[in-house]
Amino acid sequence: MPQHPDFARGLSVGIIMDGNGRWAKQRGLPRTAGHKKGAEVFQQIADYCDRIGLASVYFYAFSTENWKRPAEEVGAIMRLFGEYLVRAFDYKSRNNRIVFLGERAALDPRHQQLMAEIERDTADRTGMVLNIAVNYGGRQEITRAARLLAQEAAAGRLDPAAITEETLAARLYTAGQKDPDLILRPSGEKRLSNFMLWQAAYAEMVDMEVLWPDFTPAHLDAAIAEYNRRSRRFGGI
Ligand code: FPP
Repeated sequence: MPQHPDFARGLSVGIIMDGNGRWAKQRGLPRTAGHKKGAEVFQQIADYCDRIGLASVYFYAFSTENWKRPAEEVGAIMRLFGEYLVRAFDYKSRNNRIVFLGERAALDPRHQQLMAEIERDTADRTGMVLNIAVNYGGRQEITRAARLLAQEAAAGRLDPAAITEETLAARLYTAGQKDPDLILRPSGEKRLSNFMLWQAAYAEMVDMEVLWPDFTPAHLDAAIAEYNRRSRRFGGI
């Protein structure tokens, strides 16, 4: 059925890009080939999210736990990330803001520099926010926010009794941004795996059997159509 032109306008979607390894294995290819295809799909889907008018999209590219993988695989993912950083995610001529979520100090200093430049160059843009989570973990993010609050309280700049959910949310990597309305995890897994633990409180989740390298705009359309059929109550009735 054709979608209403505004079917996705203003929504925020989180995407856990999963299944690259299985996709490669099914084809007798090295896992890194799955990540390469996954990165191409990332770019296509990011472009599509912009086209359908999402307010923001959050891609989970590398978690704080992914360092446990073999060094060769970690190196390949980071090299791919570096290539896309150099191209500034093909967003140079668009109206998108790019934001990186996660602990950057552990990343290659050249990558850190490019990340800072891309964020600075796109900071005033008013279109979709493209968030890319790299060396990101939800628990790490909340712990960091708690540490920032404690430091401010110890310095006398913050009254602990005045801390609200908003005060804490303003210290997350996503400060000022909308929570995801919908979180997708292709590949059939049904776990958040430390992704946006705070922000996902009321996110809808949709089953997705497709592996990330096979993910197409039609899969996103179907997930959003399902989201649009749901009734969100936020704890009410
Ligand atoms: C999960 O699949 C995927 C990752 C841990 C890496 C995702 C990275 C990219 C798509 C490329 C780099 C990112 C950008 C933004 C250019 P998996 O390896 O866990 O798959 P499996 O569960 O089938 O083994």
